[in-house]
Amino acid sequence: MRCYALILFLPATLAFQLPFRIPFFTNNDIVEDLRESDSNNSLPRVAIIGAGAGGTSAAFWIHKAKERYGLAVEIDVFERETYIGGRSTIVYPYSNTSLPHLELGASIFVPANKNILRASYEFNLTYKEFDQGGKTGVWNGEELLFSFGDGWWDTVKAIIRFGILAPKKTGELVDSAVKSFLTLYTIETPKWDDMSGLTTALNFKDMVEKTAADYFVERGVSKKYTEELIEAATRVNYGQNSDDIHGLGGAISMAATGAKGIQGGNFQIFEEFLKRSGANVHLDTAITEISEVLSPSPQWEVKSALGTRKYQAVILAAPFHSSGITIPSPLATSIPKQPYVHLHVTLLTTTSPTPDPTYFGLKPGSILPNMTLTSWEGVRRGGNEPEFNSLSYHGLVREGEWAVKIFSSARLSDEWLNKMFSGQVGWIHRKEVDLLQSPLALALLIFLFFKWDAYPKLTPTATFPPIKLGRGFYYVNAFEPFISTMETETIASRNIVDLLLHEEFGSGLCGPRVDLHNDQTPLPTSKEFVYGWDC
Ligand SMILES: Cc1cc2nc3c(=O)[nH]c(=O)nc-3n(C[C@H](O)[C@H](O)[C@H](O)COP(=O)(O)OP(=O)(O)OC[C@H]3O[C@@H](n4cnc5c(N)ncnc54)[C@H](O)[C@@H]3O)c2cc1C
Ligand SMILES: *[C@@H]1O[C@H](CO)[C@@H](O)[C@H](O)[C@H]1NC(C)=O
Ligand SMILES: *[C@@H]1O[C@H](CO)[C@@H](O)[C@H](O)[C@H]1NC(C)=O
Ligand SMILES: *[C@@H]1O[C@H](CO)[C@@H](O)[C@H](O)[C@H]1NC(C)=O
Ligand SMILES: *[C@@H]1O[C@H](CO)[C@@H](O)[C@H](O)[C@H]1NC(C)=O
Repeated sequence: MRCYALILFLPATLAFQLPFRIPFFTNNDIVEDLRESDSNNSLPRVAIIGAGAGGTSAAFWIHKAKERYGLAVEIDVFERETYIGGRSTIVYPYSNTSLPHLELGASIFVPANKNILRASYEFNLTYKEFDQGGKTGVWNGEELLFSFGDGWWDTVKAIIRFGILAPKKTGELVDSAVKSFLTLYTIETPKWDDMSGLTTALNFKDMVEKTAADYFVERGVSKKYTEELIEAATRVNYGQNSDDIHGLGGAISMAATGAKGIQGGNFQIFEEFLKRSGANVHLDTAITEISEVLSPSPQWEVKSALGTRKYQAVILAAPFHSSGITIPSPLATSIPKQPYVHLHVTLLTTTSPTPDPTYFGLKPGSILPNMTLTSWEGVRRGGNEPEFNSLSYHGLVREGEWAVKIFSSARLSDEWLNKMFSGQVGWIHRKEVDLLQSPLALALLIFLFFKWDAYPKLTPTATFPPIKLGRGFYYVNAFEPFISTMETETIASRNIVDLLLHEEFGSGLCGPRVDLHNDQTPLPTSKEFVYGWDC
């Protein structure tokens, strides 16, 4: 079993007896109000819903403000699962913790992801390089189009296939997007109260309003490169084709150089955020309703199986439409319905060092690349759909047995897997069956969580969900249709904490200063400066 330090703080039984550090009685408002007037229990409170990248970092940012200028608030974090990390979570082959773990959800971050990088450094976590060498091939459902990653000959073949211009031009566009993104870590970072504000500030308007295919082709990248290579990246990263996903989704998918993970699991970053935040953490506690109370002072009433508690501010850090939370209807209707990519993640182990070459139309005995990505270009010409989005070997779990991860839009049957790995499949873990453990919960779970709502469909758009739902009520996952990654959720929460602290407590994340440039303190010059951490 995986050991979660924070669960130890809060054994399930205790959670029900002592829902909060300051006990209160749900159905006794008088007692509650008395407590609120009691000097030591009158700390303003913030509720954070969701303990993924967004919610845990929100707690951490508030804690930074507490450290910096003595902001006095109490933080309650509610998480409906029994673990911290949300879509960043791991499993062990055969449930055997002696074997290397596998990421079930978010697996990589890149050097431009400065919050995660800084956190891993401060929390003394160790990196694991993602790129373990070996080839990557691209399959279109009919044939393996090409492969790359194996020395100069592959480079020559890539140049013959795509020319020099397309990769060069793509590299420039991606670099320029990353450069713009990096301003978010500087003291000149834009601050935004809606996503369009950010889109404009970063100069990403054109990119999010167009499909990746249009965006790259208009800027001189060949259609072939867009459909075969950029699309392979958008399909493995976001389960979408280059003519569905927006340009920013395309650019981020292509910015994977230097990809890393955390040894032992990325979720540890989010556990550390919470540990350091001093928040009261309530696992296995789904919030069901948030309502507004106007007197004696405007507050939000947050309801769970633990009872109801009032808060000065609420941060919703979970995708609203799958959260099962009821909020006042004008607020609910202000959040546009957001389709998510329903992704099937299949993890397995196999003693076969390669997928079945005959499936790919190769001679028996041929060795497939370690990673097979896919393109939709064959389908556009009337061919078969690839049956998966990506299929990758992830190293040995023990001598002679490899871990494999497959992303697909439909369930892959046992027969399919057995054929693909020549009958040599050991352990199989499917994300969607994982949740169906108890027959009792089965009906509800099928209804609620049958698939992994992996990330939003990153459809080209000029409008985004609101960040601020009401006074003191903020929505972190409004960021996701712009781009959905662990890092960007920590940026979304940083911005929200700054807005919220200004609004409710008269002072932002970095203190009372509003215009940083008028301040006497010299601007930090260190390369390592990261806004929010160093201020
Ligand atoms: C298969 C897969 C691969 C991915 N790959 C990558 C990658 O390589 N790199 C990357 O950066 N990103 C990747 N992502 C995207 C990344 O996982 C997300 O963008 C990010 O983790 C979202 O964080 P979050 O905190 O906003 O949401 P979540 O992680 O979803 O957290 C929300 C939390 O809220 C909880 N919750 C929901 N409703 C309630 C309620 N009513 N009451 C209490 N709690 C509630 C949920 O249980 C959940 O824990 C991947 C995602 C998937 C699924
Ligand atoms: C209230 O808090 C103050 C400062 O933290 C402390 O000195 C005092 O003892 C507390 N009073 C009670 C009744 O707990
Ligand atoms: C777990 O894996 C280790 C390492 O391969 C092995 O020695 C051990 O027997 C396994 N445990 C179980 C319960 O299978
Ligand atoms: C950091 O981690 C390393 C290796 O895991 C360990 O040896 C070291 O003691 C840790 N340092 C701190 C300050 O925790
Ligand atoms: C990937 O390919 C390389 C080279 O063929 C090989 O040495 C390595 O073991 C492969 N890795 C996996 C996980 O199969």
